[in-house]
Amino acid sequence: MRNIVYVLLLLTIIIVTACSDRKEYVIAMSQCSEDIWRDKLNDEMRAGTYLYDNVRLEVASANDDNVRQTEQINNFVNEGVDILIVAPNQMNTVTPAIENAYNKGIPVILFDRKTGSDKYTAFIGADNTKMGYTMGEYVARRLGGRGRVVEITGLKGSSPAIERHHGFISALKNFPDIKIVATGSGTWLQQSGRKAMDAILDSIGGDIDYVFAHNDRMALGARQAAEARGLAGRIKFIGIDALPGKNSGIELVRDGVLDASYIYPTRGDMVMQLAMNILEKHPYKRENLMKTALVTKDNAEVMLMQAEEMNKLNDRLDRMHDRVNMYLTQYSHQKVYLIMFVIIVVLLVVLFVAFYRSIVVKRRMREDAANAKLVFFTNVSHEFRTPLTLIADPVRRLLEADNLTTQQRSMLCLVRKNVDVMLRLVGEILDLRKIQNRKMQLSVSRFNLSEYVSQWVANFEPLADSKDVELSVDCGSETVIEADLYKVERICYNLISNAIKYNRKGGRINVKVSVEEPMAVIVVSDTGIGIPRDKIAHVFDRFFQASGENRGGTGIGLAIVKAFVELHHGEVTADGNADGGAVFTVKLPLKQPGANIVEKPELNSGELNSSVLADAPQSAGIDMMTAPADSDRKSVVVVDDNSDVKDYIVSLLSSQYDVKCASDGREGLAMCLKYMPDIVICDVMMPVMDGLEMCRRLKSETATSHIPVILLTAQTFDDQRAEGYDCGADAYITKPFSSNVLLSRVRNLLNERMKLKNIYSGIDTEEEKSSADDPDTRFVDDFRHCLKGHLSDSELNVETLAAELGLSRVQLYRKVKQITGSSPVEIIRITRLKAAEHLLRTTSKTVSEISYDVGFSSPSYFTKCFKDYFGHLPNEGRNV
Ligand code: FRU
Repeated sequence: MRNIVYVLLLLTIIIVTACSDRKEYVIAMSQCSEDIWRDKLNDEMRAGTYLYDNVRLEVASANDDNVRQTEQINNFVNEGVDILIVAPNQMNTVTPAIENAYNKGIPVILFDRKTGSDKYTAFIGADNTKMGYTMGEYVARRLGGRGRVVEITGLKGSSPAIERHHGFISALKNFPDIKIVATGSGTWLQQSGRKAMDAILDSIGGDIDYVFAHNDRMALGARQAAEARGLAGRIKFIGIDALPGKNSGIELVRDGVLDASYIYPTRGDMVMQLAMNILEKHPYKRENLMKTALVTKDNAEVMLMQAEEMNKLNDRLDRMHDRVNMYLTQYSHQKVYLIMFVIIVVLLVVLFVAFYRSIVVKRRMREDAANAKLVFFTNVSHEFRTPLTLIADPVRRLLEADNLTTQQRSMLCLVRKNVDVMLRLVGEILDLRKIQNRKMQLSVSRFNLSEYVSQWVANFEPLADSKDVELSVDCGSETVIEADLYKVERICYNLISNAIKYNRKGGRINVKVSVEEPMAVIVVSDTGIGIPRDKIAHVFDRFFQASGENRGGTGIGLAIVKAFVELHHGEVTADGNADGGAVFTVKLPLKQPGANIVEKPELNSGELNSSVLADAPQSAGIDMMTAPADSDRKSVVVVDDNSDVKDYIVSLLSSQYDVKCASDGREGLAMCLKYMPDIVICDVMMPVMDGLEMCRRLKSETATSHIPVILLTAQTFDDQRAEGYDCGADAYITKPFSSNVLLSRVRNLLNERMKLKNIYSGIDTEEEKSSADDPDTRFVDDFRHCLKGHLSDSELNVETLAAELGLSRVQLYRKVKQITGSSPVEIIRITRLKAAEHLLRTTSKTVSEISYDVGFSSPSYFTKCFKDYFGHLPNEGRNV
């Protein structure tokens, strides 16, 4: 079972991890600046990641700062990113950091700008030299080969600025009449273009035809400088980038602010594709140049429209991506729920199967155990039958003798009755085995069930009477049935004897016979202790005993009932009734079709009567409970629900002790509190209150805690014995017990009490006598303490002391007498006299003063008592 659960868990882990097992790539992007060209590129990159579900893009911008870009690259390397995409701010400044990343095995893509090193994996960008060249040619064409031109370059040391410059001047070399009259340097920013232009105008004045700035932002700045001097109308400005959007390159060209621009493509999608090709080890080119195009007033409008269209498409793509993301999230949740659901279902199925299997196995084990028990008992029963018969017969013959004493006759009757009980039990076990082997057959006869049931019930009257249980029968006049009379008798005897056994004093039992065609119905209901709800289903199981109920029994009777009923093709059920007792309903078919009807049915009532009714008191028994009480004799309370055992113990003890009897723990406890016996002998398994509980209560009551308890039981296991001692029992004797052992245990315990009594008899002395843990010592201490507190009180009497100690007058008297051997009054007097003797020795008070101090109401009575106890007068030997 546990293995299956482990396999399932493993499977779950595999499934869950399989769902998310693709490696996630971290793509790091280091931008040199922050502007709309780079924002566009970043957005395109992000959109590019939509195509892959295992990519995370991290973007950092250095804000045109070489140091910061170096730091950012180093951080990415430390983080262990999977690929690094860099637009280096300047050619050489960030090169070491890039080389370091490359050397550490991180693929490096340079885009837009280059380094001075060849330690990179791939480059992607536009051909800046070609762009510069194209712009040179454009200017020359527009000027018709003659004119004055100014160049404003991008950030010094950045590769696009270097390459664009080279391209531009090499194109103009072909036009000797075109002069580059001034060159300024910017930082790619609009303001830097304006500043550079201002400086040029300051130095060469406004005689300029064209200004080529390396990007549109600087071209616009330069134009603003010219505008400020009223020169904007005559000078033309061109730039690079041609970005779409408000106030960007294409719009400036369309509106005539710039004369031309050149598309410097961002194409983040291509950069992303290249990165993925490298990561996923797909083929890729090391140098990747993007296509570009010149934008002039002629194509600007179209370009803008295209760009707008592109924007819209991109927006839609973004929205779609968001939606797809949402669906994917939902889908992945649903997938997890589905997997969990499947796992739970599988687990439930496995649990159910395991549970079912365990029930089947348990049932089989129970059946095997019951079978093994039955086989064992059957073997034992076979062995028992002969010796039992050999006991029964001689006993019967002995009983026929005339010269037996009453006690001998009573004992022999007891033996005969119990041999009969054992023979019946042995017979039942053999019957059970027969039934199991399908060898039991019906011997069907036709008879009046009502008549027989009435008769059987009548047979139980003496037993019911002895238990103070009222038996009633309600059978109608005639119920003719075809059945096995002997087995029906056994069914009824078992049910009625159970109803009596598990009833309470003053309880009722009703046996009813009726007809519900085609069945005869026998109902036995009682007002007894009932059957716990959860046990009802098992009462007919072989060897079943309701645990904790102390019901006794072998667990065979009801199994026989069921088997016999089923042999008749009838049914039997057990239930509870409104009074809390049990109801057994037997339904037997009125007819047994095809059965051979026997004329003269056999009955076994004789044997059944003497065994089933074994609990009835013996008429021949001596009335030992009423044996005359002798005040000097020790008293014993015997508590047992089995009247035979009880009678037997009484017969053993009654010659030496006063014996009182009770049938259950509650009755026993009440008897002990009332009579304060010298010793208690008590069975453990009893209805109403068991012996352990009774013992526990006796030992926890101050009045009775000193009384020795002998537990008498059939339970032989050590832990049960330990439980008995835990309850405070003084001795534990297992059944079958030897009468000698029981008698000597009783004697010993009473002698031990005597010894203690001798110890405690000096109660009035100052020293402690024994351990304070001992309840008797504690009691004696309390008694002494109480006594001393009242010593000078002449009114002090036994009632006052008893009330203070929480006992009745009689209980105090008996307890003190049993523990110390003296009555409380004697102890009070002796304690007073001893205190007086102490005062006479140690003080100079007069005799009469001392007599009042120790609680005597008259000095003359004190003097008399003193003389009686000490043998001399109080003043004798005193120096007063
Ligand atoms: C954007 C930008 C562009 C220019 C490019 C050169 O940051 O300045 O305007 O064309 O960089 O790398």
